Amino acid sequence: MSRSIPSPLRRGLLAFALCLPLLAQAAPDDVSPAVREAIDWAKDHPRDRHARPGQEPSPLVVAHRGASGYVPEHTLASYALAILQGADYVEPDVVMTRDGQLVARHDNELGLTTDVSSRPEFADRQRTQEVDGVALTGWFSEDFTLAEIKRLRAIERIPDIRPGNARLDGAFEMPTLQEIIDLVKTLQVSEGRRIGLYIETKHPTHFQQLGLAVERPLAELLKRNGYASRRAPAYIQSFEVDNLKTLDRLTELRLVQLYGSGQPYDQQRRGTGLTYAQMASAEGLKAVAQYADGVGPDKSYVIPRDANGNLGSPTDFVVNAHAAGLKVHPYTFRAENAFLPANLRSSDAPHERGDIEAEIRAFLDAGIDGLFIDQPDIAVRLREDAE
Ligand code: G3P
Ligand code: CA
Repeated sequence: MSRSIPSPLRRGLLAFALCLPLLAQAAPDDVSPAVREAIDWAKDHPRDRHARPGQEPSPLVVAHRGASGYVPEHTLASYALAILQGADYVEPDVVMTRDGQLVARHDNELGLTTDVSSRPEFADRQRTQEVDGVALTGWFSEDFTLAEIKRLRAIERIPDIRPGNARLDGAFEMPTLQEIIDLVKTLQVSEGRRIGLYIETKHPTHFQQLGLAVERPLAELLKRNGYASRRAPAYIQSFEVDNLKTLDRLTELRLVQLYGSGQPYDQQRRGTGLTYAQMASAEGLKAVAQYADGVGPDKSYVIPRDANGNLGSPTDFVVNAHAAGLKVHPYTFRAENAFLPANLRSSDAPHERGDIEAEIRAFLDAGIDGLFIDQPDIAVRLREDAE
C-alpha cells in the first residue's frame, strides 16, 4: 500500500499542476526546458492537468454510493463528503427515468431510499412487476419523469445501523448523473486533484426491455463531458455481461465486470448457463479480459469467511485476475459490526464499529488494487499511514 510520492509533496505538485495554465500565460521566456515542456503539456491537455499520466492511486479508494456510511446514499452530499474525505472515485449507481434521464439510485424501486411511499400524489404509482426475474411491489424510476423524481427526498436505507444518517432524511434530492459530474469537476478544482467516476449500470436488461436502454445515453453523456478515452478518470461497471460488451463497442472508457452469486441476469435470460463461478476461474477471467479492464468481485471471491463467519484464507482469484491483466476492486467494505467477519467485530451491537482496518489490511495483503467502501476516510487514512 504505497504511493510513489509522499502526500504533502503530492498535493503541492498537484496544486502546481493546477496553476500551470495560468503560469503558461505569464511565463517568462527564460524558463528551463523541463518547465517549458510541462507548461506546453498542460496547455495541450487542459482536462488532464490534475492527472499523473498512466498512474492511479493505489489502493484505489472508491466511495461506495458516496460516503454512504455518513450520509444517505447517492446524494450530492454523500459524494461531496467522500471527495472531501479523500476518495479517488465516487460510485454512482444509475437508473433511468420515464423520460430517459440518468439518475443515481441503487434500485429502480424507489421506496427503499426515498420518501415516495409517504407522498399522496404518487400513491397511484405503486405497482407490482418483475425486475430481474423477481416480483417486486413499489414505485419504479421508469414510471416517473425527472421533474417528478426531483420532488422526492432521499432517506436512509438502514436507519437501525446508521441512525446518524437517518437524521438527514428529507434533506437531499436524487441527483442526476450530470449533476454528479458537475460536482466532481467543481471539487476537482478546489481539491486540486483528479477525482473519478465509477458508474454502475443497474438492471440493464430490464431497462432495455422497456425501451430505455442505458448504454448509449450513458456513453454519450460521458463523452459530452469529456470522458471518452481509457485515460479518462471513469470506469463503467455492471453485474451483467452483454451490456458491458455493448459498452465496449460504444466507448473506450474502462469497464469492470462485477461478480455476484448465481448467474448474471442477462445470461440467465438468454439461457447460456454462464455462471459467476465459471467467470471466476482462471479461464473465465481470461474471457472477461476480452471486454473488461477490471473485476469487481464480492469480497468472498478474494477471501471467503469460514464456517464460523471468521475471515478465512485468500483464494487464487486475485492471482488469476492479474494474470489475465485485470484490476481487482472488491466490494463492499463497511465499518459496522453487522458487516464484518465475526472475529473482527468489537461487540454484539450491529451499529458499532469493528476492526475494519484489519479486514482491509488482509485484502491488501491478498493483492487487491482498490476497494469499494462506505467510509472512504478509513481507507484513505490507512493508505496515508502506510506512506
Ligand atoms: O458496484 C460495486 C458494488 O456497489 C456492487 O454492489 O449492490 O452495492 O451496487 P451494490
Ligand atoms: Ca454499485
